[in-house]
Amino acid sequence: MRRNETPEQLEDRRELLGGLHGRVLDLGAGDGANFPHFPDTVREVLAVEPEPYLRERAQRNGARAPVPVRVVNALADHLPFEDHSMDAAVVALVLCSVPNQRAALHELHRVIRPGGELRFYEHVLAHDRRLARLQRLLERTGVWPRIAGGCHPARDTVTAIEAAGFVIERCRRFPSKPCPVLIPVAPHVLGVARRP
Ligand SMILES: C[S@@+](CC[C@H](N)C(=O)[O-])C[C@H]1O[C@@H](n2cnc3c(N)ncnc32)[C@H](O)[C@@H]1O
Repeated sequence: MRRNETPEQLEDRRELLGGLHGRVLDLGAGDGANFPHFPDTVREVLAVEPEPYLRERAQRNGARAPVPVRVVNALADHLPFEDHSMDAAVVALVLCSVPNQRAALHELHRVIRPGGELRFYEHVLAHDRRLARLQRLLERTGVWPRIAGGCHPARDTVTAIEAAGFVIERCRRFPSKPCPVLIPVAPHVLGVARRP
């Protein structure tokens, strides 16, 4: 995944993770695309990855990361961590793929300590009505989830984050179009939500 990222996407990851500290959950870590960008103020990264091939790669990449990384086999809707045990959690291109977004956000709210942060970098439902219609069509017909490994193009993720009890502190919306075929997932958000 990291091999294909543009300089802009790498910069997005640095923005996503800048200023984090303490114990941080990286949910749906994949092969560890975030790992090189965690600042050294992070004491430990708990990288949750359920897919065996990606988990094995995350383990290898975690060993080379600038901060300690522990890779954990778990699912977003049942996190094996104590209540309030994380200073922050990161979701990067994950809330589009989890089968139950509401349950995943409920779990994130449970494990982040009061005052802690949820950092998010996700593609979302477009504000542009024509693109939103296309996204809903691709979602409803199951076309996009089938060709893109269970990814849902029409989720209103920022609204869902707020509905789970987080307060949005910062949210930058921008189109990310590394290639034309990805136009249905071009609208992105990158930001910080606080757990009260
Ligand atoms: C598009 S990849 C993003 C990976 C990584 N966060 C990144 O930024 O490159 C989506 C990831 O979510 C993971 N995932 C899918 N369903 C999940 C679930 N229910 N719980 C946890 N992770 C899940 C996938 O295995 C995959 O690694």
